Amino acid sequence: MTASTPSPAPNQGPSATLRRIAILMLLIAGAILAAAILRPSADAAAYRTPPLAIWVHLATVVPAVPLGAWLLWRQRKGDLAHRIGGRVWALMMVATAIDSFWVRTITGGIGPIHLFSLLVLVQVPRAVRFAMTGQTDRHLRLMRGVYFGLIAAGILAMAPGRTLWTLVFG
Ligand code: HEM
Repeated sequence: MTASTPSPAPNQGPSATLRRIAILMLLIAGAILAAAILRPSADAAAYRTPPLAIWVHLATVVPAVPLGAWLLWRQRKGDLAHRIGGRVWALMMVATAIDSFWVRTITGGIGPIHLFSLLVLVQVPRAVRFAMTGQTDRHLRLMRGVYFGLIAAGILAMAPGRTLWTLVFG
């Protein structure tokens, strides 16, 4: 009997490295394009974030925190509740990422936090595709990453000087 060479796991090996490099390049190209289209110009100082954009942002991120926790820590995965809840969560994350391009409170233009929005727009659809093709390990890893990014963005949003801080502490 001959021992067969184990084939690399789908997220290892040269093709996975190439895929990662391609995603990184896409992200950088997207960031450059977004910065070019939405770059702070003479009108940056005149730009006012529409209050609706902040409300849409909050209406999508706040429920996403408990829903995401429930999806991640619930024992049962892949059942109807997980699939419906997961789709709602993914839609909320994509909606908030798109909406965030109208939220420009910090610099008046597109800033570094918008890179996270781009990342969400790439990673959430990938994570959904992994779930639909049975690549559950990769699905879980990506969704965990996006969820902890959501929590980190939420903590940063409470920083002194930002809108939530001003709302709470005047
Ligand atoms: C619980 C989670 C989150 C909370 C509570 C939150 C809250 C806020 C608030 C209140 C603002 C506008 C006012 C300010 O700058 O202080 C804001 C801005 C922003 N948020 Fe979030 N956010 C959260 C998660 C996210 C996520 C998941 C993304 C990306 C998909 C995101 C991307 C942004 C961006 C790009 C801005 C604009 C920053 C700028 O002006 O340069 N946030 N967030």
